[in-house]
Amino acid sequence: MGNMDIAPDLILDVKGLTKHFPIERGFLKKVVGHVRAVSDVSFSVKKGETLGLVGESGCGKTTTARMIMKAVEPTAGSVRFRTDQGVVDMAKVDRRELKAIRRDMQMIFQDPYSSLNPRMTVQEIVGEPLGNYGYSAEESKKRVQELLALVGLNPKYLSRYPHAFSGGQRQRLGIARALALDPSLIVCDEPVSALDVSVQAQILNLLKDLQDELGLTYLFIAHDLSVIRHICDRVAVMYFGRIVELADTDILFNNPLHPYTKALLRAVPDPDPREEWLGGVICGEIPDPTKEMVGCSFSPRCAYVQKQCEQICPQLIDVATQGEQTHQVACHLVAEATGLRKEA
Ligand SMILES: Nc1ncnc2c1ncn2[C@@H]1O[C@H](COP(=O)(O)OP(=O)(O)O)[C@@H](O)[C@H]1O
Ligand SMILES: [Mg+2]
Repeated sequence: MGNMDIAPDLILDVKGLTKHFPIERGFLKKVVGHVRAVSDVSFSVKKGETLGLVGESGCGKTTTARMIMKAVEPTAGSVRFRTDQGVVDMAKVDRRELKAIRRDMQMIFQDPYSSLNPRMTVQEIVGEPLGNYGYSAEESKKRVQELLALVGLNPKYLSRYPHAFSGGQRQRLGIARALALDPSLIVCDEPVSALDVSVQAQILNLLKDLQDELGLTYLFIAHDLSVIRHICDRVAVMYFGRIVELADTDILFNNPLHPYTKALLRAVPDPDPREEWLGGVICGEIPDPTKEMVGCSFSPRCAYVQKQCEQICPQLIDVATQGEQTHQVACHLVAEATGLRKEA
């Protein structure tokens, strides 16, 4: 594992991450085009924080997560991750090194119904990662009981099957499994999206408590802004494969700058149904991901679109850096308004 520095407070640093999925046709699997799932995504995650990744379905959140986990090979870009042994370039690790890194980087999935094998017992599900790392049956049983207690489940449930559990309890099992090898970073891909609202809050609180107790870092993916607001320190807003705005959670919710973020925030329905909903439905079409887009991908739907927006793709730039705070936006008009205009 080579040592390539990232800032000492960072655990993850992603630069220019891009994924074009080939579209194959026919018996010979001829490549007839590409789906541009993720384009030039850059961000970093500080040790101990929760960075949110929010955007509509299909905008590239899961693909970004899978590239970080090295479950999908990036078309371009780099992922650097800090382990106990130093910083690794994920593109350069081999199978053996990846196994060691997987201890430190785990994932929690959206659907606790399909992500747990129905034919495996709790001991087998939660203990599976332990078996791959040389734990004996005895040690594994002890560790699984410990983990069940940690996520608020009865340690006596070892021999039960997933169908005996509710959605929330299943997600607790998924969390216990992710924690088995004592990771430092957990990528949570919509971990509460499939759960009832009342259960969502319990799971979010559990994740927060575990973070405090175990010093975990989260990359937290969601399409729901209220969930993001509840748990994240900073938020990256994704639109059509790109990050369009990245800021501290308070700043993002109180002073959104990108027209897409503004529209998203307006679209959060009022919790009181008697109030008239002034929601900003975002009009216009989403671009075709199989076609190359020249300008800003939000320009076909943007109320403030100008000529340059259709010609030049805006870069994500710092618009206000005060002390430790971050606020980055990819919008020509915002850049112009703040006097920071840069041609890409
Ligand atoms: N394996 C794949 N092959 C081809 N296209 C894919 C594949 N996985 C995802 N995509 C496409 O990439 C885009 C982003 O998908 P995804 O990362 O799953 O978005 P999200 O998680 O934000 O809903 C979508 O257009 C999706 O159809
Ligand atoms: Mg997804």
